[in-house]
Amino acid sequence: MTQNIKIGSLQKQGAKKQPKILFVDHTAVLGGAELSLLDLVTVYGNQSEVLLFSDGALKKTLASRGIPVAIAKASSETLNLRSSGGIKAIKSLPELWWLAGQIRQKAQNFDLIHANSQKAFVTAALATLRGSPPVVWHLRDILTARHFSRLNRSIAIFLANQFATRVIVNSQATGKAFVAAGGKPELVRVVYNGFHSEPFETASLEQAQKIRTQLNIHDVPLVGLFSRLSPWKGQHILLSAIKQLPQVHIILVGDALFGEQEYVSYLKTLADEPELQGRVHWLGFRNDIPPLMKACDIIVHTSTEPEPFGRVIVEGQLAQRPVIAAAAGGALELIEPEKTGLLFPPGDYNALKIQIEKLISDRALGSFLAQQGYISAKTNFSWGTILDSFQKAIS
Ligand code: UDP
Ligand code: GLC
Repeated sequence: MTQNIKIGSLQKQGAKKQPKILFVDHTAVLGGAELSLLDLVTVYGNQSEVLLFSDGALKKTLASRGIPVAIAKASSETLNLRSSGGIKAIKSLPELWWLAGQIRQKAQNFDLIHANSQKAFVTAALATLRGSPPVVWHLRDILTARHFSRLNRSIAIFLANQFATRVIVNSQATGKAFVAAGGKPELVRVVYNGFHSEPFETASLEQAQKIRTQLNIHDVPLVGLFSRLSPWKGQHILLSAIKQLPQVHIILVGDALFGEQEYVSYLKTLADEPELQGRVHWLGFRNDIPPLMKACDIIVHTSTEPEPFGRVIVEGQLAQRPVIAAAAGGALELIEPEKTGLLFPPGDYNALKIQIEKLISDRALGSFLAQQGYISAKTNFSWGTILDSFQKAIS
């Protein structure tokens, strides 16, 4: 989706001198945080470098764009430190210190470190103790007990208050949770994700029709859920919702990026139930999101926990499809209910079913929401505007 971005466009435009940034992320899977990072890094081109703590698709994509990328490989114990705390966190300290040394070494020729994940930030903050340049934390998670142990949260907040020059948050909701956990409000800058609308505007109805033909889905309502397969992303909520809507087919686009195989097995068991058989289409991870969205009549977002931002919501709006989202976190900043989309209480599959039914029976409402959603997404989340606010936030 980011193929049309000009690599290193800042340098080529002769824009005012931009800082040299070392971008750091602990993971190389293509989640939303990494797709957003990819867009940012691509602008800075080979004036920047990316340091990852594991190998994967992100590294390949960066390399194919000519962006310098290096790996300081961390163990799986350290990479999986998130909701676990105590002893495990303490055991990881020597490795975190080693990673901090790797960052310091790499960062020598850079003005700034951009930490794209919590683990990247903790390590980069330790690196400042070892003499590396200032660090900006790009916080893309809502810091709650569901996702992070108390110890992990406390350490991250302490280090942010001591060592971060800024904390960029991907929504007001993410910023609020940071402050509620003890983070200093004056560090916070909200920078939403920005999007290039062209891939959505140029995806044609012919392409969409072809996708439906390949899937053997013809004149039936098609609902799309575009998200990695993970319990809190709530694919099971959609499966329960459409049980009582026998005409509806769904596509599940996305993969289990962080090893959630048990959840995938559970979803497959649900989809095998007689009421759902033949109506659930598993597409796995895809790179052609715009035409896939155009092939749908409705896009849904079903997270059961507050979504920090929710790229898929804005993408659904850009694809000019009515979007139904779970009413919590960043989603509330992306959708004005009954105008730019519809909302339902997180986890309430019956309420989701009612919203899907409403759109199926009222096509005019669907068209209205799609049109208003598109205007809102283009106005509020255009790449240029968001890049400006990112540059202001790091200056
Ligand atoms: N996505 C993708 N291929 C897939 C499924 C999802 O490229 O098969 C993209 C999707 O278009 C969106 C991102 O992954 O840009 C997911 O971001 P979001 O903020 O919605 O959720 P996250 O996974 O970051 O929590
Ligand atoms: C994280 C969040 C997601 C957000 C993305 C981009 O992956 O889970 O809600 O859209 O970052 O900032």
